[in-house]
Amino acid sequence: MRALVVDPAAPAGLRISEVPEPEPGPGEVLLDVGHISLNHGEIAFATRREPGTVHGYDAAGVVVRAAAGSPPAGARVIAFGAGAWAERMVVGADAVAEVPDSVDLADAAALPMAGLTALRTLRTAPILGKRVLITGASGGVGRYAVQLAAMGGAHVVAQANRQEGLAELGAHEVVSELSGVAPVDLVLDNVGGRLLVDAWGLVKLGGSVQNIGWASGEPAVFEPYSLFAVGRSKSLNTFGDVSAPAEDLSTLAGLLGSGRLSPEIGYRGSWEDVEAAAKALLRRDVRGKAVLELT
Ligand SMILES: NC(=O)c1ccc[n+]([C@@H]2O[C@H](COP(=O)([O-])OP(=O)(O)OC[C@H]3O[C@@H](n4cnc5c(N)ncnc54)[C@H](OP(=O)(O)O)[C@@H]3O)[C@@H](O)[C@H]2O)c1
Repeated sequence: MRALVVDPAAPAGLRISEVPEPEPGPGEVLLDVGHISLNHGEIAFATRREPGTVHGYDAAGVVVRAAAGSPPAGARVIAFGAGAWAERMVVGADAVAEVPDSVDLADAAALPMAGLTALRTLRTAPILGKRVLITGASGGVGRYAVQLAAMGGAHVVAQANRQEGLAELGAHEVVSELSGVAPVDLVLDNVGGRLLVDAWGLVKLGGSVQNIGWASGEPAVFEPYSLFAVGRSKSLNTFGDVSAPAEDLSTLAGLLGSGRLSPEIGYRGSWEDVEAAAKALLRRDVRGKAVLELT
């Protein structure tokens, strides 16, 4: 079969190559993949992986061989797991979810990593009636986080330089800088660097920051004692919980199906041209997700 594999010599560090068909083991599902989506880290750091590795985590397609507890053969599904950017993918039954008939598989492919990350970081604290700040809100994770936070009853502050559409997705305040923003209860930080430092300064006592990513690539320099406060603790957390995502994938697919969540796809193309998609993502030209079709 063909797959997008890591090749440090290729543009974007990826090329389509012939690889062996994957063989499902016990508890694993075999999928025919039709669409994949790109995530920032996968593109920025592709060449850190072993050359020849089948890359990517997000796929949508059809079940070829089911496993106990998985959707049946023939079901239209999304999946989250290593080796997704290939004509066939093997993934644990606990990382696959059926997609409602009304949802296009190309739209569904946008969901897994970005949607799970947004959903799970928002679940780390109560958000109903709380002020939630999302940095890098114009990106893949950010656009889902804005929608889900608004759905959960939060007052959403979206930080982005590219601000189009964020108010329509549910943001109550849209800012490029954090000066002048009132204190917040929870921060979902996708950017790192100076924004992380500024966001930390806005967190109320008892509040928290989920550091999802570091799209800026810039260092964060905290002033001495800026991590000290009298009263309830503030916390700064890492996020990387990708365990058993099937139920959450199902929730996200259901929200797409009911029209409550928009897939926010800013780039569509063929996987043959992964270079163009990768460049657009890193140039900050993609509003939301980049989805590629396996042609
Ligand atoms: N922890 C996890 O499990 C997990 C899961 C998914 C993603 N991530 C990480 O979370 C971050 C966000 O992911 P994503 O998929 O949402 O990325 P994305 O679609 O590329 O969005 C990142 C956003 O950050 C802002 N940004 C600020 N400075 C930037 C810079 N120098 N280069 C690029 N973007 C910059 C951009 O907004 P403006 O242009 O509007 O300012 C952009 O929309 C990435 O670092 C990613 O690796 C982590």
